[in-house]
Amino acid sequence: MMTAETTGRAACLIGWPAAHSRSPLIHHYWLRLHGITGGYSIEAIPPEGFAEFVMHLSTHGFAGANVTIPHKERALQLTEPDERAKAVGAANTLYYDGAILRSTNTDVEGFISNLDVAAPGWDRTGDALVLGAGGASRAVVFGLVERGIRRIHLANRTMERARVLADRFGARVIPAAWNTLSDLLPRTGLLVNTTSLGMNGQPPLDIDLALLPRDAVVADLVYVPLETPLLSAARARGLRTADGLGMLLHQAVRGFELWFGLRPAVTQELRALVEADL
Ligand code: ATR
Repeated sequence: MMTAETTGRAACLIGWPAAHSRSPLIHHYWLRLHGITGGYSIEAIPPEGFAEFVMHLSTHGFAGANVTIPHKERALQLTEPDERAKAVGAANTLYYDGAILRSTNTDVEGFISNLDVAAPGWDRTGDALVLGAGGASRAVVFGLVERGIRRIHLANRTMERARVLADRFGARVIPAAWNTLSDLLPRTGLLVNTTSLGMNGQPPLDIDLALLPRDAVVADLVYVPLETPLLSAARARGLRTADGLGMLLHQAVRGFELWFGLRPAVTQELRALVEADL
């Protein structure tokens, strides 16, 4: 295990089982770029050891951590979560505020920052239509609510899940049935795919983008492949797009800032580095 003495400041990704992650590549890039002595490791911790590990995070030499499957909901209970983590119902980033271990959900910021960079003005193009009602959708919907988007239509294969999520976020989130998509598309300014459709090995998302207005923006959270069938259809129509890799990179910014005290930039060089690892 790392210690602060040997590595400077350090952070880690806690998950189970140990899985391949691009986070070490991202954080090591920024550490090197800014000449910070530090580290970022992957810690495979089973559910029964998670609470113990988190409660002694600083003793293990860590200034904070990312948390992934299956610990994201449990992390909420073991820390002081902010509004974002509470709203999403899951924390993915832990950090110390003095002796207090706090948590946040950086997917919210990652989604919104990526759109701000990839498609400035995206928040003035009309209603939002979010496809999917799982964990990723919650972060997206909360980000849109926080940003003040007035109408957010939420469509999911399983309608009941869309209803539950819409109830949680209030009147501006409107549950929609999957088979009413073609009615919604003409007034959609932002279309977001949070489902796994379009991912390698999954069927593509089958929707007719010709129904979208010309100034609409299309965002996909899927990043393997980087160019999903949805994004290539959107680009072929001349629509602006925001891809899943952009969101992944932007969500890492806040964690690095909280642990290492400097807000890093998502550079083209970093994008290329991570892209080569997909
Ligand atoms: P995540 O945490 O990434 O959001 P999740 O909670 O498993 O993952 O959610 C997956 C989302 O993709 C759900 O909205 C799911 O729809 P259901 O709620 O109906 O399961 C959606 N999804 C997965 N496969 C799908 C498919 N073949 N067609 C339509 N939606 C699909």
